[in-house]
Amino acid sequence: MEKAIERVLLSAEEIERQVALIGARISADYAGKDPIFVGVLKGCFIFMADLMRHVDIDCSMDFMAVSSYSGANSTGAVKINKDLSEDVGGRHLILVEDILDSGVTLNYLKNYLQVRKPASIAVATLLDKPARRKADIYADYSCFEVPDAFVVGYGLDYNERYRNLPYIGILKPEIYS
Ligand code: IMP
Ligand code: MG
Repeated sequence: MEKAIERVLLSAEEIERQVALIGARISADYAGKDPIFVGVLKGCFIFMADLMRHVDIDCSMDFMAVSSYSGANSTGAVKINKDLSEDVGGRHLILVEDILDSGVTLNYLKNYLQVRKPASIAVATLLDKPARRKADIYADYSCFEVPDAFVVGYGLDYNERYRNLPYIGILKPEIYS
C-alpha cells in the first residue's frame, strides 16, 4: 500500500494536533447551541471520529452518504445515497467533510439541507484545496490547506483504497493516470 505514496504530506501527529484545535474552537463557538454534526460519508469517518473526541459540549451526530467522484476526477454529479435520520429544522448543523475540492458536493448539500430550515449550516473540513474551487463555498473550520495534488489516507480514498493509512500522503500520479 505504501508503495503508492509519493510522499507524506501530513503526519499522524500533525493531524492529531490540528484536529484537537479545531475541536476546541467548535466547542467554544457552539456552547449551548446543541449542534448536529453531519458527517459526509465515507471520507469523513476517521476525521469525524477524532474530531468528536475533542468536542466537549452537548451535541448529536448524524451521517449522509453522497457520491460525486469516480476515480480521481469529478463527474460533476452529486447523488444522495443516504439521507439524515434526524429532523434538522431549527437546529445548528455542522457538515463534516474530508476535503473541500471543487466545492460542488458541499454546495449541493448545503442547498439541499437549507430547504429543511435549520438555524444555521457551517462547514468543517479536514482539508481545503482552494486551487480547484468551482463553487462559491468556503469552510468555516479547516484543519489544513493542501496543494493541488491527489491525496489519500486518514479516510480519503482513491477508488476505495488507502483510507486506512494513518497519515495523509500524495498519491503517485502513475496510480491514477
Ligand atoms: P468536491 O465536490 O470537488 O469538493 O469533492 C469532494 C469530494 O471529492 C471529497 O469528499 C472527496 O471524496 C473527493 N476528493 C476530492 N479531492 C480529493 C483528493 O485529493 N483525494 C481524495 N479524494 C478527493
Ligand atoms: Mg472519495
